[in-house]
Amino acid sequence: MTLAGAPDVHRLADRLAEARAFTERLCAPLATEDYVVQSMPDASPAKWHLGHTTWFFETFVLAPHRPGFHPYQEAWGVLFNSYYVAAGPRHPRPERGLLSRPTVREVFAYRAAVDDQVQQLLRSPEGQRPGVAEMAELGLQHEQQHQELLLADLQHALSRNPLEPAYAPRPAPGPTAPPPLRWLDRPGGLVRIGHDGPGFAFDNEGPAHAVALAPFRLASRPVTAGEFADFVADGGYDQPGLWLSDGFAAAAQAGWRAPLYWDWRDGRWTRFSLHGRIPVDPGAPVTGVSYYEAEAYARWAGGRLPTEAEWESVARESPLEGQFVEDGALVALATGAEAPAFGGAWAWTASPYVAYPGFRPAAGAVGEYNGKFMVNQIVLRGGSCLSPRSHLRATYRNFFPPHARWQVTGIRVAR
Ligand SMILES: [Fe+2]
Repeated sequence: MTLAGAPDVHRLADRLAEARAFTERLCAPLATEDYVVQSMPDASPAKWHLGHTTWFFETFVLAPHRPGFHPYQEAWGVLFNSYYVAAGPRHPRPERGLLSRPTVREVFAYRAAVDDQVQQLLRSPEGQRPGVAEMAELGLQHEQQHQELLLADLQHALSRNPLEPAYAPRPAPGPTAPPPLRWLDRPGGLVRIGHDGPGFAFDNEGPAHAVALAPFRLASRPVTAGEFADFVADGGYDQPGLWLSDGFAAAAQAGWRAPLYWDWRDGRWTRFSLHGRIPVDPGAPVTGVSYYEAEAYARWAGGRLPTEAEWESVARESPLEGQFVEDGALVALATGAEAPAFGGAWAWTASPYVAYPGFRPAAGAVGEYNGKFMVNQIVLRGGSCLSPRSHLRATYRNFFPPHARWQVTGIRVAR
């Protein structure tokens, strides 16, 4: 992570308190039972997200910087350490749903105690020491990442209940007619991508560097659910010529016939969502597709997925506007206007998640944050309706394995 200049630590403390409170507001609709369910190895229970983000502050902010620090409960480290080998042993990820203890109440008390200490640290003379603000900022950004993960994981857990419970009331429907698709023509050439300040960025967003692009065209809006339904109706899932071999095998093995959460009922597509089961809005961005499905769709539509450099070169000129978690609707809605680069649905790119030239992970356990995952994953760009607005920027690189479908993942076609 990089931070240009000395951040205002008091302002950071305020932003941090806000972010931590927002996580807890996201949990307000939950019953105690909802906090503990783990519906698959890739998804974590809400209680675990609450504990893990707290452990992150304890381990990377308080332990190295708070005078006289003692862990809140030393034994909990093993439960809430996700993947930081250098930070000690870890409870197996697929078994997070087996942890009925500590209780939800105890985890909230843990959050409050650690928040108090972090606030005291940031507002004390020690808060001005080198590294404190940087790690607190990283903790804040990490908290925001987990806000989106918490909601996506919760959606998956609720989807496995035949009662199809709604987390939140249904939003007002957006306009159903999508804007006509235009092609944004770009001349290519030598473009600069990656973060070079000011402000926060994760380490994987740098170093900034030049990339040579051939002339290309990028769709002016994401692929809609209606367009993807046409692909389904055209037998897209049954045409091996459209698919990568790995993707066709994955789809066959898992029985994919439509995006995740879609179900054909009473003559129309419906989908499960955090608002319960709702009709699929044909004008809304399609979501719940894997990289494999995105890639097959793009080929069917006569195009391809954009590289991350192509996407970023367009996004750099785009305002950071779109549909984000603060807007309250927890499904991607039709925008009814020229769709921006940001929000709504993450766009799968054609780019493998690898290090930029000259990338070096940070020293110590926190260097495990991003760098060690740079294999067998694909970059996604732009953020979604579950992303906090202040968490995103043009250089932001999200990444998931090509078969992942439970995040709010969509498609934008290039040529
Ligand atoms: Fe994490």
